[in-house]
Amino acid sequence: MAASIVLLTGAGISAESGVRTFRDGDGLWEQHRLEDVATPEAFRRDPALVHRFYSERRQALAGVEPNLAHQALARLERERPGEVLLVTQNVDDLHDRAGSRNLIHMHGELLKGRCLACGAVFAWPGDMSCDSRCPACSGVGRVRPHIVWFHELPMDMDRIYDALQRCALFAAIGTSGHVYPAAGFVEAVGPDTRTVELNLAPSLVASAFHELRTGRATDLVPAFVDELLAGL
Ligand code: APR
Repeated sequence: MAASIVLLTGAGISAESGVRTFRDGDGLWEQHRLEDVATPEAFRRDPALVHRFYSERRQALAGVEPNLAHQALARLERERPGEVLLVTQNVDDLHDRAGSRNLIHMHGELLKGRCLACGAVFAWPGDMSCDSRCPACSGVGRVRPHIVWFHELPMDMDRIYDALQRCALFAAIGTSGHVYPAAGFVEAVGPDTRTVELNLAPSLVASAFHELRTGRATDLVPAFVDELLAGL
């Protein structure tokens, strides 16, 4: 049974596609206080502002494409005999569009909505507002973005921790190490797991990795995947 790989991606893998990161120079959190648009309290306080924030990001997503790094990770999953689990913090659909299937969106998905009345989760590619109607129960004004906000539990954590403890390789790509639990994944792997960080600059948890590769994702990731497929 070929050893398994767990990959974690953050906003840096989508940066070269034109999707803004959160904490780089022109990052999203430079433009908005996350307390105003990315917490349950913000949604209770001003749902219209929160809906506008996510509707703007959905519209921006329509104009971008997966890049060579997204495509390389999909190729790794297709061509490598052992399991490749891709855990992304990103809410964009670029890994999905690149062809990754064994994929967990631990912070939710921008192009989906959730109904607070009936709990249904459904595709929602367009704008969302306080007047939006749930496609499952027809309730009005109870639809929210299917996004994990701060102070909320990320998705599929049991499955992620199980994979981390079993994998032979853990690689973190384009994530700053600011936000837990993702920033702590490198500490949750087994004693023999090889750990690699690929990033434009060392993250806050870079010292916890065996190996650091510095550069742009579209350069580093295809080369890394070639190595893994060659059995290096
Ligand atoms: N190639 C590789 N890495 C890059 C590139 C690039 N072209 N451009 C930026 N980066 C790296 C930066 O060096 C940084 O480490 O991407 C990371 C972006 O960091 P953040 O903006 O903090 O994004 P991320 O780590 O994904 O944030 C984690 O925070 O706000 C929450 O829910 C949000 O999922 C997000 C979480």
